[in-house]
Amino acid sequence: MFFELTEEQKAVQAAARDFAQNVLKPGVIERDRDQKFPAEEIKQLGELGFMGMMVDPKYGGGGMDTISYVLAMEEISKIDASCSVVMSVNNSLVCWGLETFGTEEQKQKYLVPLAKGEKIGAFCLSEPEAGSDATSQRTTAIDMGDHYLLNGTKNWITNGGSASTYLVMAQTDAAKGHKGINCLIVEKGMPGFVVGAKEDKLGIRGSDTHTLMFQDVKVPKANRIGEDGFGFKFAMKTLSGGRIGIASQALGIASGAFELATAYSKERKAFGKAICDHQAIQFKLADMATEIEAARLLCLKAAWLKDQHLDYDMAGSMAKLFASEVAMKTTVEAVQVHGGYGYVKEYHVERLMRDAKITQIYEGTSEVQRIVIGRGVTR
Ligand code: CAA
Repeated sequence: MFFELTEEQKAVQAAARDFAQNVLKPGVIERDRDQKFPAEEIKQLGELGFMGMMVDPKYGGGGMDTISYVLAMEEISKIDASCSVVMSVNNSLVCWGLETFGTEEQKQKYLVPLAKGEKIGAFCLSEPEAGSDATSQRTTAIDMGDHYLLNGTKNWITNGGSASTYLVMAQTDAAKGHKGINCLIVEKGMPGFVVGAKEDKLGIRGSDTHTLMFQDVKVPKANRIGEDGFGFKFAMKTLSGGRIGIASQALGIASGAFELATAYSKERKAFGKAICDHQAIQFKLADMATEIEAARLLCLKAAWLKDQHLDYDMAGSMAKLFASEVAMKTTVEAVQVHGGYGYVKEYHVERLMRDAKITQIYEGTSEVQRIVIGRGVTR
């Protein structure tokens, strides 16, 4: 077993760290306060090759491995989880799904601009009554011969307003259950497609999360991904990789909070010495460091399995389950280490605490991850 990163992986990590510190950090508090989408920052991330990191360079991607993706996600998420969720959805849900299962025509038309970061993608599975129970899709895609007629509503869609390309899961034949679901590529601007209200969220407030409505949207058959009825499996396979991305986001939120708490504890004095010299604080930092390292190893293991083309479903769920719980616990403790300063925006940790919560919810709640792991260990 070899734990050293390659020179390429270290370079990606350093580039992501520089970008996060120099470009993302200066405006992150304002973007969170104003719910401002990081459009310019995402454009720059695209120019650096971070929006299609794992995509083959022949489709405009960075041709990097999943380990590099985890490293970059951690660094970006330390500073701005609103930005990293845009990056994660584009990379692991949209680009990976299109590259792995799309036709050559779909790749040329949709994947290339997404991988280059010229356009942004969204993944549309959740509905008002189909969250964890994803097979219960109410959105319908009726087969009309050369096209599908799409009707329904999607909820909680990351990049809902800023995306141009949407992967939409919809039921074509309800009698077939999950085998009747298709994934259609929908373009912004298709008649009948309406982007609804933006959600006013607790955390990741810079990202734009919307309800989407489809009313008699004509989607060409050529925009279906895979064979008829492949949509649910497409969603599950894609989400397995997505969970590595969100696990890495959670890892970054936790390690960002840990770094802030450690730095603060060295500066802040109480009872005649720096608070890091009090055992009460040392024990907190020790627990944070240990749990973050364990989360990091789970993320890297899942990424390694994916890079080796081995089964990573359970490993991705374990990484997400554990890292998101570490993110929540670490950020709460980081606020505690900061005392009153932790409760104000200027010190960043309260934002990280708010941002951490969503990592236990999206791309499958912690309960969904336990279902995947539970089934894996009893298989
Ligand atoms: N790869 C391939 N196929 C898979 C699979 C995987 N990882 N997981 C399941 N399947 C297949 C199964 O083999 C089965 O196929 P067969 O009938 O042919 O055997 C089929 O899919 C149905 O699987 P299950 O019977 O396991 O389905 P289930 O109804 O019991 O649900 C579940 C399982 C794990 C709970 C699943 O529904 C799930 O993951 N739900 C959560 C959905 C989710 O993560 N939503 C997040 C929305 S996206 C988002 O958040 C993006 C964003 O914007 C940030």
